[in-house]
Amino acid sequence: MTASAEVALVTGCSSGIGEATAWALAKAGYRVYATARNVEHLESLRKRAFESGLFLQARPLDVSKQGEIDAVISEIGTEAGRLDVLVNNAGYALFGAIEEIPSEDLRRQFDVNVFGLVDVSKAALPLMRRSGGGTIVNISSVAGRVPAPLMGAYCSTKFSVEALSLAMRAEVHQFGIRVVIIEPGPVNTKFSENAIKASGHIIRRNDSPYANAYASIRTMYENDGPIGAPAERVAKVIMRAVRAKNPKSRYSVRARDRLLSLAGSLVPTRVGQRFIRGYFHLNPPGR
Ligand SMILES: NC(=O)c1ccc[n+]([C@@H]2O[C@H](COP(=O)([O-])OP(=O)(O)OC[C@H]3O[C@@H](n4cnc5c(N)ncnc54)[C@H](OP(=O)(O)O)[C@@H]3O)[C@@H](O)[C@H]2O)c1
Repeated sequence: MTASAEVALVTGCSSGIGEATAWALAKAGYRVYATARNVEHLESLRKRAFESGLFLQARPLDVSKQGEIDAVISEIGTEAGRLDVLVNNAGYALFGAIEEIPSEDLRRQFDVNVFGLVDVSKAALPLMRRSGGGTIVNISSVAGRVPAPLMGAYCSTKFSVEALSLAMRAEVHQFGIRVVIIEPGPVNTKFSENAIKASGHIIRRNDSPYANAYASIRTMYENDGPIGAPAERVAKVIMRAVRAKNPKSRYSVRARDRLLSLAGSLVPTRVGQRFIRGYFHLNPPGR
């Protein structure tokens, strides 16, 4: 690490993609500010970096709390004097039929996945501009290209991330700031466990008219084996985007993720919906 090393801020580093990305950036020589709601959950990452002689600071950051966003950006400004890479990774999924999702849960989903990402970016941009440019990496999903039933809340946040990212990409290009979107399919992280935790009060209801569909999504997410990519594979794609001279606007992680996104835009909606209703047990009885 040199005093002039570039500086990176990553949100949601307590596990999964955020943790792998913070580690990859530190290994690549970045001065990394790894953040999480509970800073104690960053202890093993911080220790691992310390023992390897890497620069990685652990800081508390709940992306839905403006005070914490301002504090971490101000600290980076004072301590490092620059910010070159921001990875907006923090997020979670809320499952359930639109009809049954309490409005406050839907608002919370947007507070974290959308407003959190926007608020962190807004706070970071002046410092990135003062640094002469940089890269904002927004973690979207295949769910930001292909909407799925029982995941309408999550998908709509990721569709928003896609739209906001592309708009911002054009707006900040003039300042040498590049905005890129990463669109992973399934990744082996705590994502499913956290989604089930956040949605249990909705998808465990036996009295729901959607009970059959909920059983199918529970089976899918409670018993998911290693069908996903490792988080390190996503981190690798993020590093490729960060290092690129002219990064693409969107990066897939695996070929199958890219195919799914492509199918979402090429297959007629009527055909896609028929298939997906069957998959989620949403067809009328006997069909
Ligand atoms: N895994 C997948 O299959 C998959 C696929 C496509 C996209 N993604 C996206 O990838 C990103 C990372 O997810 P992951 O797969 O790595 O899952 P994960 O292991 O559950 O990690 C999610 C991270 O987000 C953090 N987080 C949640 N709410 C937060 C808040 N209010 N403020 C700050 N941090 C918060 C969590 O921290 P806490 O410990 O505080 O909860 C955790 O560190 C998410 O945006 C997700 O939507 C995941």
